[in-house]
Amino acid sequence: MTDLTPEAIIDKKKAYLFPNQLHFYKNPPHIIKGDMQYLYDSNGKRYTDFFAGVTVVNCGHCNAYINHAVAAQLGKLQHTSVIYLTQPMVDLAEKLSAVLPGDMHQTFFCNSGTEANEGALLLARMATGRKKFIAFEGGLHGRSALTMSVTGIPMWRIDPFPEEGVYFAPSFAVDGEPVNESAEASLSAVREILSTHGDEIAACIVEPIQGNGGMKTPPKDFFKRLKALLEAHGVLLIADEVQTGFARTGHMFAMEAFDVVPDIMSMAKALGNGIPIGAFSARPEVAKAFNKPSASTLGGNPVSATAGLAVLDYIEKHDLTERSARLGELLKTALQDIANAYADVTAVRGMGLMLGMVFKTDGGAEKVDAILETMKDRGFIIGKNGMARNVLAFQPPLVIGEEDIRRMTEALAEVMAEVMTAV
Ligand SMILES: Cc1ncc(COP(=O)(O)O)c(C=O)c1O
Repeated sequence: MTDLTPEAIIDKKKAYLFPNQLHFYKNPPHIIKGDMQYLYDSNGKRYTDFFAGVTVVNCGHCNAYINHAVAAQLGKLQHTSVIYLTQPMVDLAEKLSAVLPGDMHQTFFCNSGTEANEGALLLARMATGRKKFIAFEGGLHGRSALTMSVTGIPMWRIDPFPEEGVYFAPSFAVDGEPVNESAEASLSAVREILSTHGDEIAACIVEPIQGNGGMKTPPKDFFKRLKALLEAHGVLLIADEVQTGFARTGHMFAMEAFDVVPDIMSMAKALGNGIPIGAFSARPEVAKAFNKPSASTLGGNPVSATAGLAVLDYIEKHDLTERSARLGELLKTALQDIANAYADVTAVRGMGLMLGMVFKTDGGAEKVDAILETMKDRGFIIGKNGMARNVLAFQPPLVIGEEDIRRMTEALAEVMAEVMTAV
């Protein structure tokens, strides 16, 4: 099979995929190979990846340890569905109960972050007998009808008929505002919603750091105060750790940084390191409400569960949590040094290796796009997100090295010096 040119792939996409699937870059490369923190295109050019496939390959592309375990399982048993007994699923659930905070000892497996959040919201309804939800502007929770309805980013709320009964509070970190003021306004709004609708609300769903919203990071005491407000009204807290989980933030789960144990946690992405998997977990008193039959055909299949087990093993053996915290500090300092030179860069925020460089909303998207394109040409893949697509996203595989960070930030400083005056 010969590799198609990027142009031929774009033509095929246009012909055979729905028109809703966009790609980064004016001139996108055709990526054909991944090896830990590096990607290679069809011309043999190497890129250092600072986006990890949107925070999926925390353990690196094509990680040999994980892929060996997956290949061995593929050769033994690929699928029977959850109505038969298999071991990897229960082993993974047991392992998760050991690494999750608090008493979150029971888990339901599915196939994606959307499905994990959909299940978490359903569990909250079953556990409380209430229907409505609180969500935050700037949060993203999925593509299904309900998860899109609790998503607070306009560009990802494409359903013209969102579900009713979702109350939005402003984000805890609004671009251009001091974070403490945003957080106060956000908590006041939650208080207000609870005072009028508290007894109708099943749960509040929140990302500990709003990834797609642009690495919006709350102050340290935010979730403790939020949890206390919710508890007073019997409202459950769902932490969406689909993007922040599995050592990404310098903690196994970001909620640990805020010293709060949620009632329900959803996970996906890095748990499979590229193999599709989703999960939501809760303590047994909450999980027991989910007692009517429910099954996911591929959820908990032996191959995905084996991948999850190998991922958790790899994270522990290589202490990726500590590595993410340490290298995150290094990267954040370097990014802040660059940002200091530009009035158009309003913040560098995030935790561990989940960092964002925030540009002014006005004109920021053009600058971000120009930087992304030039950095790609120089061999570095960076992400973008934010309410106005105005945030450069740095979420590399956690196996990235100090030398990779040094090379990338040197190139970024040069590229920004060119781009910031030109655009
Ligand atoms: C925080 C968060 N929740 C949920 C989702 C949806 O996950 P998936 O694309 O696996 O359905 C995403 C995807 O980016 C996400 O970042």
